[in-house]
Amino acid sequence: MSTNITWHDASVTKAERRQANGRHSFVLWFTGLSASGKSTVANAVARKLFDQKIGNYVLDGDNIRHGLNKNLGFTEEDRKENIRRIGEVAKLFVDSGTIVLTAFISPFRADRTQVRDLLEADEFIEVFVDCPIEECEKRDPKGLYQKARNGEIKHFTGIDSPYEAPEQPELVIHTHLHSIEDCAEQVIQYLREKAFI
Ligand code: PPS
Repeated sequence: MSTNITWHDASVTKAERRQANGRHSFVLWFTGLSASGKSTVANAVARKLFDQKIGNYVLDGDNIRHGLNKNLGFTEEDRKENIRRIGEVAKLFVDSGTIVLTAFISPFRADRTQVRDLLEADEFIEVFVDCPIEECEKRDPKGLYQKARNGEIKHFTGIDSPYEAPEQPELVIHTHLHSIEDCAEQVIQYLREKAFI
């Protein structure tokens, strides 16, 4: 815990940044099992936004764990800290006026709620990438489910570590039923309907 620190207000406010950008800033929080399609859909949405000249940035689980969170593993405690830090980073993006898309398993409801509470009500959009574990395991693009089944990886989400599905996500997408293109379009549609973009 730090002591003797003082908060400094920024000379340029979030409201001014949004006004200059001509749009709202918010977090699109993708959550779901490994191999459910979080990163793929988030990146497809990012591309669609960018092509419409809407600036945005994707924070992705594997990538963030190469740098900022390289000291964290997959125990419950480490995942909690992982999501806490990502939440704080996402808030900074929102403050900067940027749309941020996050793709983390974020398996624990309480951790996701903590991030939601860190932000304003219209700044956190939870997108549940709802894909049955059987399908995720069939995809197994990194061979991790196989390793988890063989006992080579411990605490693997959906195998020997829980995934708590969102109870009231803003959006649910089904990558086992629809194409990536359609799933991404569904997210864009939602943002348009709510006048976020
Ligand atoms: S978490 O739970 O939100 O902290 O996880 P996250 O930061 O999103 O990292 C998930 C990616 O790490 C790889 N990986 C594991 N996932 C789950 N459980 C265990 N034990 C594990 N070990 C490594 C895996 O590639 C995840 O990537 P995705 O893209 O989700 O498949």
